[in-house]
Amino acid sequence: MTKPNLLSGMQPSASSLHLGNYLGALRQWVAMQQTHSAHYVIVDLHAITVAQDPKMLAENIRKTAAQYIAAGLDVDSSTLFIQSHVPAHSELAWILNCIASFGETSRMTQFKDKSQKGGSDNASVGLFTYPILQAADILLYQPKAVPVGEDQRQHLELTRNLAERFNNRYGKVFEMPEAVILKETAKIYDLQNPTAKMSKSAGEPKGIVNLLDEDSVISKKIKSAVTDTDGEIKFEPESKPGVSNLLGIYSAVSDKPISVLVESYQGVGYGQLKQDVADAVIATVSPIREKTNELMNDTSHLDSILEKGAAKARETADKTLRDVQNALGLIPNRNN
Ligand code: AMP
Ligand code: TRP
Repeated sequence: MTKPNLLSGMQPSASSLHLGNYLGALRQWVAMQQTHSAHYVIVDLHAITVAQDPKMLAENIRKTAAQYIAAGLDVDSSTLFIQSHVPAHSELAWILNCIASFGETSRMTQFKDKSQKGGSDNASVGLFTYPILQAADILLYQPKAVPVGEDQRQHLELTRNLAERFNNRYGKVFEMPEAVILKETAKIYDLQNPTAKMSKSAGEPKGIVNLLDEDSVISKKIKSAVTDTDGEIKFEPESKPGVSNLLGIYSAVSDKPISVLVESYQGVGYGQLKQDVADAVIATVSPIREKTNELMNDTSHLDSILEKGAAKARETADKTLRDVQNALGLIPNRNN
């Protein structure tokens, strides 16, 4: 039996993923490779919707790929590639630009949030049409499943609307993709501000455990996590957010239920808990860091993995694009 297609994308916007990205998303992507024919795309063209430093961008694209591979993404059974290596993404995005209405695109809340920050005069047109490029990323691969965080639900709805409109007007080309909203099995909070989600954009460095942090740095960050003064190890996110977050992290990296951990820590102090959480996090994260560093030490090998991924991706993407062009009445270019 063939496995259903899956596609998801990640922005290469940071030099290191953090523990929240790993436990909340990446780990699930790795698991979904078993049951799906998975396509994972590093969306560099989405990243440039806001200004990027060119050197940093190139480094972040490779580092993002390296961290995914290091975390268990299997480049033989799955397809890992860079968006700009598959020109069909840009070409289908233009076509979908001509299908999407200005009104529906204007209703995307992520654009409203992002453009408000810098003022709409400073927001690029690319930021406005970002969700349409995302729709192209998805529809080219005819995926059944698109695993994303809750914040991407609206972009998935737009994608489905565009697919349906295209199919109604020009005949069925696109499969309807389904959003698989990743339940945050492990929602990880900032170590310094444990009522806020761990997030690159919000937190101070001390509150965020990066996958590429050295062991000593991880240990220090976890040991200086904000807790409370009553000294009891209990899982009560409302009244004890700091301790509860540590228990949540511990449970996610050790696969032990929180209740079992709480039981075994009766009468034990926060110092011991932090030490054990640090050890468990390091045991999970340091092999990923080491493998990432290895991959980054040989970028020509890494680039060749990504080129192979792009060649595989182009086979599927180009076929869909041809079907779209035919349906629209564009004359095929037989050189392609
Ligand atoms: P972002 O880089 O914030 O767009 O997040 C990428 C993915 O990581 C999304 O699917 C999020 O659900 C997940 N994620 C980000 N931050 C956290 C967090 N603090 N806890 C759990 N999951 C997270
Ligand atoms: N917009 C997504 C995010 O910020 C990234 C993305 C781009 C994506 N293209 C995609 C996600 C296609 C899923 C499918 O997380």
